[in-house]
Amino acid sequence: MSILITGGAGYIGSHTSVELLNAGYDIVIVDNFSNSKPEVLNRIKELTGKGFKFYEVDVLDKDALSQVFSENHIEAVIHFAGLKSVGESVAMPINYYYNNITGNLILAEVMAKHNVKKIVFSSSATVYGMNNISPLTEDLPLSTTNPYGSTKLMGEQIFQDIYVSDNEWSIALLRYFNPIGAHESGRIGEDPKGIPNNIMPYITQVAVGKREKLNVFGDDYDTHDGTGVRDYIHVVDLAKGHLKAVEKIMGTKGVKIYNLGTGIGYSVLDLVKNFEEATGVKVPYVITKRRPGDIAACFSDPTKALKELNWKTEKTLKDMCKDSWKWQSNNPKGY
Ligand code: NAD
Ligand code: WQD
Repeated sequence: MSILITGGAGYIGSHTSVELLNAGYDIVIVDNFSNSKPEVLNRIKELTGKGFKFYEVDVLDKDALSQVFSENHIEAVIHFAGLKSVGESVAMPINYYYNNITGNLILAEVMAKHNVKKIVFSSSATVYGMNNISPLTEDLPLSTTNPYGSTKLMGEQIFQDIYVSDNEWSIALLRYFNPIGAHESGRIGEDPKGIPNNIMPYITQVAVGKREKLNVFGDDYDTHDGTGVRDYIHVVDLAKGHLKAVEKIMGTKGVKIYNLGTGIGYSVLDLVKNFEEATGVKVPYVITKRRPGDIAACFSDPTKALKELNWKTEKTLKDMCKDSWKWQSNNPKGY
């Protein structure tokens, strides 16, 4: 019996693969390397000392995906595969809807055909939209402001509707807050293409000398120091949350929705300060204007995941900074 991990060569998928292998699960990874590199697979093997099957398959390729299910005894799926850049989604909405939505539909269709009805879906805090006040609980009204966010909200809806049509499904919708950090070995981490959109890879590229300075997007928000506040979560804590979610869907039916966050909001300047303290490396920055679409504060109420999954984060913001830096400084060019 194996867990199929779509997008397992990506940032969160690779860390989750390591945790699953270390916990004794057999895994099968499917990825088309649209946003990752084959080398990550060697690193996963190196870190765990374990082998696994890999298929270079696009989730949209129904026949190839179906073949993966025919050749393996898949018990459940963790579905990471998707495009994830907010800005890119505004410029290329067709690609985003096509890849993310069609990917969900084809995967669900192939799963049903092979009678595999357990899935963990990567959703995002972005589904809480602009109008809710943090800390955010799972029952708040949802909305989105960009095509990427809409694919996540529609993805949640698709899986909820599938359950309504067939109560044999067991589905976990996980809303991640802001994943940063890397495996403490420094062997796997986030490897963005081009100029990073997200703050932590930008900071580490400044620290390693690849970029001159960090642009802090606005210091006039209604937060303790005026800069944006987010719920940064260590990617290994996040990966462990997936193990708990897999355990949960193995034993139950229905749709479960969980925030995966720390419950603590830190500002951009808090992050810079913690990074400098944790690594001893200076991060020069300038204050620039707000980035369109950003909100002042976004952090989770993670109580439900604690109660129902017995999961909570263990790592501190300094751990996140230290591990992001170890990954970046050991792999200045990525994989
Ligand atoms: P990532 O880009 O590093 O990983 C996604 C992986 O999926 C990549 O390896 C990519 O090559 C693969 N992929 C994309 N489309 C595919 C397709 N059609 N077929 C096969 N493989 C495909 O991203 P990540 O940060 O690891 O995110 C994983 C998931 O979590 C995504 O669905 C993302 O939207 C979601 N998420 C990420 C964040 C974040 O900040 N990183 C936050 C919330 C939710
Ligand atoms: C964090 C904070 C910025 C870059 C995005 C997606 C979200 C989720 C996680 C996928 C904000 C500030 C950033 C920079 C800065 N992804 N910032 N200078 O926007 O909270 O969330 O990634 O689901 O959907 O929207 O993350 O890392 O881009 O920004 O000042 O160069 O850092 O304004 O306050 P965000 P981020």
